[in-house]
Amino acid sequence: MSEKKTNFAVVGISGRGSGMLENFLAIPGVRVVAVCDKYEDRAKNGVEIVERETGETPDMYLDYKEMLKRDDFEGLLVFTTWITHSRIAVDAMRAGKHVAMEVGGAASIEECWQLVRTSEETGKYCMLLENCCYDRNEMALFNMVKQGIFGEIVHLEGGYRHDLRSEICHGRENRHGRLYNFMNRNGELYPTHQLGPIAKVIDINRGNRFLTLCSMASKSRGLNEWLRKNEVEGYDITEYPFNQGDVVTTMIKCANGETVVLHHDCSVPRPYSRNYVIEGTKGIYSEDQDSCGAVYLDEFGDDEWVPFKDGLRDKYEHPLWKKYVIDGVKRGHGGMDYLVLSAFAESVIEGHEPPIDVYDTATWMAITCLSEQSVAMGSMPVPVPDFTNGMWIDREPFHRGIYTVNEVCEEAFEKYQIATEDGE
Ligand SMILES: NC(=O)c1ccc[n+]([C@@H]2O[C@H](COP(=O)([O-])OP(=O)(O)OC[C@H]3O[C@@H](n4cnc5c(N)ncnc54)[C@H](O)[C@@H]3O)[C@@H](O)[C@H]2O)c1
Repeated sequence: MSEKKTNFAVVGISGRGSGMLENFLAIPGVRVVAVCDKYEDRAKNGVEIVERETGETPDMYLDYKEMLKRDDFEGLLVFTTWITHSRIAVDAMRAGKHVAMEVGGAASIEECWQLVRTSEETGKYCMLLENCCYDRNEMALFNMVKQGIFGEIVHLEGGYRHDLRSEICHGRENRHGRLYNFMNRNGELYPTHQLGPIAKVIDINRGNRFLTLCSMASKSRGLNEWLRKNEVEGYDITEYPFNQGDVVTTMIKCANGETVVLHHDCSVPRPYSRNYVIEGTKGIYSEDQDSCGAVYLDEFGDDEWVPFKDGLRDKYEHPLWKKYVIDGVKRGHGGMDYLVLSAFAESVIEGHEPPIDVYDTATWMAITCLSEQSVAMGSMPVPVPDFTNGMWIDREPFHRGIYTVNEVCEEAFEKYQIATEDGE
């Protein structure tokens, strides 16, 4: 008997969309019936990927609104540019589709409210595809926090520290979306890679919330210097006065007293890091310590960092990763891409709320436009809206399953015979 499949469609098939499409097609029970990009060559590439991976031919669209008129798919995956994610997501929910969106920040608070209200009114899910919530390190650290290893959490840090000078500067040649944002905006443009895992660690929107933030931006020099060195003389944007500061630092205060610091750092030379830091009353984790992450716990007592990957990660491996290693880790950012896509696919196929819901999506994305406001006002604190409208103090229970990122749901792994005790 052939496996029952649920139909999906995909919009935005550039670098990210094509890789994610391939990964998505490897998930049991999914079928992609339509693909769309406003550029024909990219839309055709989407058709070819589906044909190559499945032997089926999806329909091709250059206008996503035309694609949304179809009634034969249940979920839409959005891999377009930052400023187009939300409007496509809102249109899709209104057309009766569940939505998964790639990460990026919001351009306005209104955009975030539109996502929340449309999801509430239509009953359709809107999940931010924050793959870093499913990273192997982040999941083991989440497990450690929830087991109380770090004590009560008081402070966290994270960032998007990625040398993207070439990608940004050649945005027009590569038809890539980042350049125009760096020309025109100034703030924490890409907050969610570390903010997502941080928010789940400290129960944001479920017993806790972000209250206020303030942001400060350094001067902007890195892109001009890179262009002077790497572009031909007279290249038109070499001396462009980019708005985006090279390093933007944001501080967030939470209702339960924690502080969070974020760094956005993409236009000066540096190795990649999300510089994750978790500090609690019993110890600390620091991603940048010893170049591969290290832990110090009060109980160690000898003032020495212990490398995270020397035993601690294995000891506290999240059961989802134990299962994934046995099943076979798929490609895509060390395996996390397949997990976040699987989480969305499962929520649509089984009909339950996704583990990253519309309130998480709106709250994490809102940090971008709030930080832009703060920078523009000389680092004034700005309030973070409560997109749950008070429900954060008394939420409906979340769906408990293997992809849940609010808690480690050990019972969900029993049928897979995955050991969930420490050290097993
Ligand atoms: N989670 C991750 O690890 C990760 C990694 C890379 C990129 N991303 C995110 O994925 C998204 C896409 O990244 P990218 O590098 O492929 O960007 P890109 O700018 O190269 O591609 C965006 C694509 O969307 C298409 N598009 C834009 N508006 C459209 C519309 N209205 N209708 C149809 N198509 C439209 C464009 O034509 C383009 O092909 C971004 O949000 C990026 O931040 C996430």
